[in-house]
Order: sequence, then C-alpha cells, then structure tokens
Amino acid sequence: MERVCQLAAQTLAHTGKFVKPGVTTNELDRIANDFMLSHSAVSACIGYHGYPKAICTSVNEMICHGLPNDVPLKDGDIVNLDVTALQNGFFGDTSATFFVGQVSEKARKITEAAHGAMMAGIEAITPNGTTGDIGFAVNKFVTKAGYFAVREIGGHGIGNVFHGDPFVPSFGKKGRGDRLKVGTCLTVEPMLNETNTEFIEHDIPGSTVKEYTTADKCLSAQFEHTVYISENGPVILTLN
Ligand code: MF3
Ligand code: CO
Ligand code: CO
Repeated sequence: MERVCQLAAQTLAHTGKFVKPGVTTNELDRIANDFMLSHSAVSACIGYHGYPKAICTSVNEMICHGLPNDVPLKDGDIVNLDVTALQNGFFGDTSATFFVGQVSEKARKITEAAHGAMMAGIEAITPNGTTGDIGFAVNKFVTKAGYFAVREIGGHGIGNVFHGDPFVPSFGKKGRGDRLKVGTCLTVEPMLNETNTEFIEHDIPGSTVKEYTTADKCLSAQFEHTVYISENGPVILTLN
C-alpha cells in the first residue's frame, strides 16, 4: 500500500503540473496514464464498471467522476484530478483540486476549505474510533467554513480492492458508524458545495459510473488521501 499510494501521489503531482489554461482534460488523462504505465502500475479506473478513462477530471460544478474530454480548461476554472493506481494487486487513491491560471477568491476559498475538511477528517481517526468520528469532524469543518458537504458519496475502505467497507461519510455523529480497524486503509475524500443544492447524475456511455454535478451549477471542490490506520493513529500514505 505504501508503494502504490506513493505512486498515485506522484502521478497526481506530475499531472497537476500540466494544469493551465488551454490544456484539455483528455491531455491530462493521457499524461497521468503514461506516468502510471511507465512506473509499473496501471490505472484502476480504466474498465472499472465500464469507466473508459484513466483518471477523473471534475471541473467547477462537477462534484466527482468527471469524464476527461476535449474541452480546453479556462483561466479561472478549478479542476479536481482523481488518480487511482493499481500495482501488485493494491490500490492507491488520491485527488486534489487545482487552480487553472488565476481563480476568483470564492474558488480559492472553497478549494482551501475542501483541503481543510479532508485534513480534519483524517485527524479525527483513532485506532478504536468510528466512521462517525470522521464524518462529524468533516461536517463540522465544512459547516463552519460556510459550505455544504455532499452526503451521498464519500470515502471507502481500500487495499486489495478499490472500493471496500467501510463507507466513510462526510457527516455523522461521534462514536456512530463502523469501527475503524487497526491495520486497514481507507480514504477520506469530502466533496464540498457552495450551496445546499441537489446533485444531478449524468450517464457515462458504456459505464454504470455516473458523473455528478451541482443542480444550480455552484462550485464543488474535493481532496482525497488514502490513510493507513496504525495503532498510533492515522498515517497518510498518499502524501507527496
Ligand atoms: N477515484 C474515485 C474515488 O475516489 C473513484 C473513481 S471510479 C471511476 O473513489 F470509475 F470513475 F474511475
Ligand atoms: Co476514493
Ligand atoms: Co479517488
């Protein structure tokens, strides 16, 4: 897990360097895929429930699972790049929201809040804690910052499967939910919206994975780390 998570983190950082106005998300997809292949890993996304691309690229109001396309990124956009690598049977999953050129203050603020929310969730992990501890900490941070955490989608157990138990919510009550097990890994990946909007599903041809956007087109931002639960607390495996 350490190795594949480091590779996922390196892929994300490498690909992120190419984010600028005029680049297309298909170009970023190709860069990420080539990086994984040249480091003896593959994308876990290609073919996952029919998903056709190597990474997810979620621009502005896209909440998650944005399918790379040929539309050039514009100055002022924010884009989440979500990389999941597979190496020797293990999965490493990490994402970050990047700025395209100069962004507005509101774009910068929700992006910073998304990072803070993820870190608050990770810091709430204790060896005998629960998923509710994580969700509580995330939601508290998000609410204080003036944003809305997406409830329907969240983090997940990960290891020799891409998406396993437990579900890691971005809301909850301390002490509730599933118990966190020492020696396992999970992701913390809160999605923050500017408003309390519904989300809209969009089909991806040939896949049961859906893209999700905010119904009112408000901005959405996300960060994700894969975390190992040690007897001394959380260890972030996808740090750069
Ligand atoms: N990486 C996403 C997650 O954080 C899942 C992407 S699934 C895909 O769980 F099929 F869209 F790639
Ligand atoms: Co994930
Ligand atoms: Co991910």
